[in-house]
Amino acid sequence: MTRRIQIAPSILAADFAALGHAIALAEAGGADLIHIDVMDGHFVPNITIGVPVVASLKKVAKVPLDVHLMIQDPDRYAEAFVKAGAARLAVHVEVLPHLHRSLQFIKSLGVEAGVAINPSTPVSALEEVAGDVEHVLVMSVNPGFGGQTFIPRSESKIQAIRAMLDAAGNAAPIGVDGGVDQTNIARLVAAGASMFVAGSALFGAADPAAATRELKAAAMAGAAR
Ligand code: DX5
Ligand code: ZN
Repeated sequence: MTRRIQIAPSILAADFAALGHAIALAEAGGADLIHIDVMDGHFVPNITIGVPVVASLKKVAKVPLDVHLMIQDPDRYAEAFVKAGAARLAVHVEVLPHLHRSLQFIKSLGVEAGVAINPSTPVSALEEVAGDVEHVLVMSVNPGFGGQTFIPRSESKIQAIRAMLDAAGNAAPIGVDGGVDQTNIARLVAAGASMFVAGSALFGAADPAAATRELKAAAMAGAAR
């Protein structure tokens, strides 16, 4: 089955004084979603964006906001991020003892419920919610910072999660986040991913719109193979 390729530029790598401009460039390049990295300084060793910023970005973005919650207590803040304009939330399996309940809660807020999984977390951590997740975000770096090197083992992890979702009869897409660029995206498509978060590969480029367009083209070429 060929899934629709989606590119989600991560504004973490953009100039925070000009986020509206960054989003416009990404959209001009065909971005399908805008990826927003929320970090709390507890779950990950960095602090980034909060609810008011998401609300402001919602006013200027034309594509849906994909909010990645790298925070210790996502249950507490999910509703606020939805009210601010998130169309999708990804929460980390590592912080949620009642992951099934959290996913049901996010769905009840009317948005897509995704689960993010860290490089050191086994695929089996997702097994019991394989039928419930609406997308899985495979972390291909340790979350906390942009511009890190892609962890090669992520490729087989994508394959294993795809097999797990398929076995559960769940066609939910798999996203990849961290170190995604032109050199690896086709392989990640082949492994079973269809949604790609990229920060430095896009906003670190001289022309982020062109870089977004080229990254999507590279993914589509991988899908056509
Ligand atoms: C990492 C974030 C990523 C990050 C990706 O903690 O979740 O979304 O912005 O950035 P790059 O593409 O630079 O690895
Ligand atoms: Zn992210």
